[in-house]
Amino acid sequence: MHTNSSRLTKDGIRIYEPDDFGGMKKAGQLAAQILDDIAAHVVPGQTTGELDRLITEWVDAAGATSATIGYKGYEHASCISVNHVVCHGIPGEKKLKDGDILNIDVTVIVDGWYGDTSRMYVAGNVSRKAERLIQITHDALMKGIEAAKPGNTFGDIGHAIQVYAESNRTSVVRDFCGHGLGRVFHAPPNVLHYGRPGTEAVLEEGMFFTIEPMINLGRPETKVLADDWTAVTRDKSLSAQFEHSIGITATGAEIFTLSPAGKFHPTF
Ligand code: MF3
Ligand code: CO
Ligand code: CO
Repeated sequence: MHTNSSRLTKDGIRIYEPDDFGGMKKAGQLAAQILDDIAAHVVPGQTTGELDRLITEWVDAAGATSATIGYKGYEHASCISVNHVVCHGIPGEKKLKDGDILNIDVTVIVDGWYGDTSRMYVAGNVSRKAERLIQITHDALMKGIEAAKPGNTFGDIGHAIQVYAESNRTSVVRDFCGHGLGRVFHAPPNVLHYGRPGTEAVLEEGMFFTIEPMINLGRPETKVLADDWTAVTRDKSLSAQFEHSIGITATGAEIFTLSPAGKFHPTF
């Protein structure tokens, strides 16, 4: 039981109290700080396992908890998804090469609140087409956030992202979505990154959720590898993702996971 008066909507979406925004901001800011600080370590020759070890240390040093270690058997403090890996890439001992692009996704728990965010990074020199994909994906996320306000629907958010991505000749992954979060990691609703205006649940002040579009240069289809985690594009085309955790306010959205240093894709 919650000790405050937070309630569920008819769609099963929790409405949090004004006082709860502070807890989400603190958790979101730690996750975002970690994404700021890891940027300097993303260089050719570095392993994704070493990046994850640094992230694990920083979560511990902050007195926080990793939400992903032990989640459904996952053993790492981050997901690191390189090139055609769409999401849930497992950190390992393979070295980054010049021109690799990667998403680093970190979720921390601070005082019981969850902060979940990811960004794109590049190792060394990035190709024009990869840089373009990263910019489109970032801007697609921000289009989704612009549509996140009371009275709009989740379909409006998905539609804004889809129209932007497809008008730039990229495709939206359908197999993974954003999610409600707060005092739990994954809660209703499923936040789709495609959709039709006016469909799905209506947004209300006090809803907390992620938006985390995965956008591909090629086709949208994915498959999960034999490790049961790593999702890749079926056509091996490059994929990018950005994720913010947000809370709906009276007039729009507060982004809990904005970069403290004002960086968002800090490597260019
Ligand atoms: N952070 C991911 C998300 O955005 C979830 C990762 S679950 C893990 O929802 F187990 F793969 F880490
Ligand atoms: Co998420
Ligand atoms: Co995440």
